[in-house]
Amino acid sequence: MMLRKFLLIALTGLGACANPSKNQSATFTPDSKAGAKAYTEHCASCHGQLGEGVLQLQSPALGGLDAAYVYRQMMNFKNEYRGHAPQDTLGQQMATIAKNILDTLMLRNISAYVEQLSLPQYPHQANADAKNGKEIYQSICGSCHGSSGKGNPKFNAPALVGLQPWYITGQFKKFKNGWRGSHPADKWGAQMAAITSLVNDEQSIYDVVAYLQTENTKPGK
Ligand code: HEC
Ligand code: HEC
Repeated sequence: MMLRKFLLIALTGLGACANPSKNQSATFTPDSKAGAKAYTEHCASCHGQLGEGVLQLQSPALGGLDAAYVYRQMMNFKNEYRGHAPQDTLGQQMATIAKNILDTLMLRNISAYVEQLSLPQYPHQANADAKNGKEIYQSICGSCHGSSGKGNPKFNAPALVGLQPWYITGQFKKFKNGWRGSHPADKWGAQMAAITSLVNDEQSIYDVVAYLQTENTKPGK
């Protein structure tokens, strides 16, 4: 028994030595502490210190969005997948900022930091039917965005529960009218844009948002 335990420990140790890639990884490991500093300097004025967004500036919440999604969106703005339509002034604003940041490793650090923040919560919406929203959400959206709206990185679909209601409806419209998800190389945006043809009245999206708010009773992921 003792011998087996000893062997196991020795073998595990050998395994670690025999695998140099574990210690000398060539891939970049994001530094969320450095990301916090860069976020405060470059992003917090619009996106809020806790990533809660700022209504007056129409800037969305970023708190709790997964790092891969946040980083991809920064690249999408840089590459004009987002913020290209002449009428999309808010998208253009963010695109200008993204293009001016040349340090992509810093963007990875910021993305790692943002992911650690809690999903923000917002006041519940009046004039929306959360029950109808639940039906629509569970039959169309949940398969990609997760059954409780917390996102599913496997499908590259971000969390929706921590986003402001007006931002969700606004982005849904941007997908629908081709301001987002229409660039030929924007694979994931195109998937989402295709879905918008399944929902044709605005009230349904308000209902979905009302339902998502009932799922966001606890901050966190
Ligand atoms: C001057 C204000 C401003 C600053 C500064 C700013 N942003 Fe934004 N950001 C916006 C606005 C407005 C939008 C919404 C664009 C839209 O409606 O499509 C946005 C959108 C985003 C999105 C898309 C969110 C989503 O859910 O898809 C990400 C990611 C983002 N910003 C990251 C950053 C990061 C990281 C920084 C700092 C390096 C930053 N922003 C600095 C205003 C700003
Ligand atoms: C086939 C999978 C799929 C389905 C179904 C789907 N989505 Fe998405 N959705 C995505 C992907 C992927 C993205 C990320 C697109 C990108 O990277 O730009 C996304 C992004 C979004 C965004 C933008 C979020 C942000 O932070 O800017 C909103 C809002 C959204 N979806 C709402 C919905 C709603 C509402 C439904 C149901 C009516 C729905 N989605 C159904 C895949 C899906």
